[in-house]
Amino acid sequence: MRYSYSTDEKLNRSTNKWMLIGVFLLVGIVAMFPLYRSYEPSSREGSREAQAASLAEEGETIWQLSCSSCHGLAGEGGSAPALNSKQFLQTASDDQAATLIAVGIPGSQMSAYSQDFGGTLTSEQIQAVVALIRSWESDAPDRPDWRDVVGG
Ligand code: HEC
Repeated sequence: MRYSYSTDEKLNRSTNKWMLIGVFLLVGIVAMFPLYRSYEPSSREGSREAQAASLAEEGETIWQLSCSSCHGLAGEGGSAPALNSKQFLQTASDDQAATLIAVGIPGSQMSAYSQDFGGTLTSEQIQAVVALIRSWESDAPDRPDWRDVVGG
């Protein structure tokens, strides 16, 4: 028997109709992607900022207890370098700062703060302090003398 096209006009039209609806749905779904993608990064950006802010808040407590006596309440320095300075913030990455805080600087007053090195802070707490220090960057003063410590 030879294959023959259906001559049932009604069936044909109904098939076409559903194909058309299918195409529209597909186009609709495809169109959603760029819309979603243009929205999504901004929401991710927002939650990253919120996370950094709450981390910095936790860091503030640690800073006051463990760091401010030498580095100053606002990081302005004292018997230790001014960490709120452009000179420090623009040269040290978060990772470098975290490592310095974790292992300390041998032969100086700067001791190791990581529990792994006999200190008192967990790595989360160190991240929190780094987030606080980083939060000073937006209005960091220019301090060429940032390492000139008072009586250090
Ligand atoms: C007992 C005093 C003292 C305390 C407390 C202290 N520091 Fe320090 N810190 C120093 C001194 C002094 C230096 C400079 C050491 C050197 O370069 O010889 C230093 C250096 C640093 C540096 C490196 C700066 C550079 O030279 O690049 C960082 C970062 C730092 N401290 C962070 C912290 C943080 C965060 C805390 C609290 C968890 C803290 N310090 C607590 C004395 C202190």
